[in-house]
Amino acid sequence: MATIVPLNTIDSALIEEVLDRAFGSDRHARTAYRIREGTDWLPALSFAALDDDDYLTGTIQLWPVALTDPQGRAHPMVMVGPVAVLPERQQEGFGKALMLAALDTLDRQAALPQVLIGDADYYGRFFGFSSEPTQGWHCPGPFARDRLLVRCANPAVLPADGMLGPWLRD
Ligand SMILES: CC(C)(COP(=O)(O)OP(=O)(O)OC[C@H]1O[C@@H](n2cnc3c(N)ncnc32)[C@H](O)[C@@H]1OP(=O)(O)O)[C@@H](O)C(=O)NCCC(=O)NCCS
Repeated sequence: MATIVPLNTIDSALIEEVLDRAFGSDRHARTAYRIREGTDWLPALSFAALDDDDYLTGTIQLWPVALTDPQGRAHPMVMVGPVAVLPERQQEGFGKALMLAALDTLDRQAALPQVLIGDADYYGRFFGFSSEPTQGWHCPGPFARDRLLVRCANPAVLPADGMLGPWLRD
């Protein structure tokens, strides 16, 4: 059984350790990091999973990003991830519990569209993400088109073209 707690109750060194173990220490070069560069994760939407012995098993962080369309208009979105579960604790339901905690919190607040780079088999099957609306989107780095996924209550509002990047407010 997972206990889900706000991520800001967890020591930041422990969070980094989980991320290194799940993604490798070269994770900072990934395109997902460039999309959210210069932003901080959103404390109200970021969570940690603890096991029955209160050991940290996984984390999820959500970030403020935007898709800037060809007319220069920024469409705010929420970037989901990294979702990270310790390798030896995967397939026990921690990933789903973390995703559901974040998405439930978002959905109660008339959610912005959510975007992520990840496996369509996992995020499509369990959480309704799709690569269909993102076919004309661009990222500030290499990415596999079928892994750029979005979830939105009304996909018709999504721009067909645009560049993803951080949503930086003054
Ligand atoms: C992807 C990840 C978050 C999933 O979390 P998890 O706790 O292992 O998964 P859960 O126990 O919640 O879910 C298990 C189910 O998801 C499926 N699943 C898990 N990872 C999957 C993947 N990458 N692709 C497709 N299905 C996957 C399992 O087959 C299982 O299906 P079942 O319920 O039909 O048996 C985790 O494996 C992880 O941290 N991986 C390394 C980092 C990563 O790739 N993160 C995602 C990108 S942000």
